[in-house]
Amino acid sequence: MAKYRIGWMPGDGVGVDVMDATKIVLDKLGFEADYVNGDIGWEFWKTEADPLPERTIEMLKNVDAALFGAITSKPKEEAAKELIPELQDKGHVYRSPIVRLRQTFNLSTNLRPCKAYDGNPLNFRDDLDLVVFRQNTEGLYIGVEYHPLPQMIREKLTETHPSQMARMDGVANEDIAISTRIFTREGCQNIIRDAFEYAKKFGYKTVTVVEKPNVIRETSGLMIREARKIAEEYSGIELWETNIDAMCMWLIKNPQNYGVLVASNMFGDIVSDLCAQLIGGLGFACSGNIGKEVAVFEPSHGSAPKYVGMNKVNPIAMMLSAKMMLDYLGESEMADKLEKAVSDVIAEGKVRTYDMGGSHTTTDMAEAVAAKL
Ligand code: IPM
Ligand code: MG
Repeated sequence: MAKYRIGWMPGDGVGVDVMDATKIVLDKLGFEADYVNGDIGWEFWKTEADPLPERTIEMLKNVDAALFGAITSKPKEEAAKELIPELQDKGHVYRSPIVRLRQTFNLSTNLRPCKAYDGNPLNFRDDLDLVVFRQNTEGLYIGVEYHPLPQMIREKLTETHPSQMARMDGVANEDIAISTRIFTREGCQNIIRDAFEYAKKFGYKTVTVVEKPNVIRETSGLMIREARKIAEEYSGIELWETNIDAMCMWLIKNPQNYGVLVASNMFGDIVSDLCAQLIGGLGFACSGNIGKEVAVFEPSHGSAPKYVGMNKVNPIAMMLSAKMMLDYLGESEMADKLEKAVSDVIAEGKVRTYDMGGSHTTTDMAEAVAAKL
């Protein structure tokens, strides 16, 4: 039996290509694992009305960690039209399997390091080392939504928020949609603590909490108040508080001034794409969904349908996600080796995928990294 059991979930589209590329590199590293395949993605939505079948959830209960490629997501109505005829009109509703996975396994921390590697022609600046901590299970992603607005909820809201609801007098329930943003104190505390612990471990001087408490007073307010309390326990690390809108501006103006960022689910989603672009785009953006029992590592990019089957996309984000998995498993020597191999290949500039202005394939990149190991 190998040392580790790793869930292997390529998912849709280019997820397959980048996972194949990463396998080449993990094998070359000598990482000892049994890989267990997990069905996830569009194919299973179309044929089973479930993009995250129960068997995949069961599989993930018995692994040390998992790697995940990418999935295709579509809005509700479009998704329903793609079901096989037998499953049509049965009330099946598409929900993103990665969001469900995060919630099912309480993978409450989403860690997204964004480092500018030397020689990457796509760097916005070469001196960037940003790390986003995104709360991964609550906030706007909690899935408590209404449309049409149920009359019972309307009445309750009219009681608690008379003046706000008065502005919608005469608007039919059918014409009102609500998506709720729910934070728990524990959810806020956990993500903030993770951010500070990381800053302490790796010597970052600041943790910036990215919210909007001047407008979204209750949820952002809770997050900021908890951040202030926790910050007191970490002398030598400054807490900076920046609103999400201003943060987007500052990250273009002076990204080198920032270190660790922490945000709720939706703001973390937004700011992590911005940070990704600063260090070369989604081809370089890795991430880990980390819980107490298991962790799932995935590139931040999607399934890129237009590049499917072309062996074209950059697998570095996936490889760096595998590097994060190695760190999580305590295999830091292998993790460091893998990161060094990736950064050497970037620095040399001989092998470049299309996004970097080259014409090398996904496999070429994998082989170049493997050759360094
Ligand atoms: C991400 C993605 C996902 C998200 C999508 C695919 C549901 O954008 O991991 O950042 O919104 O969390
Ligand atoms: Mg995103």
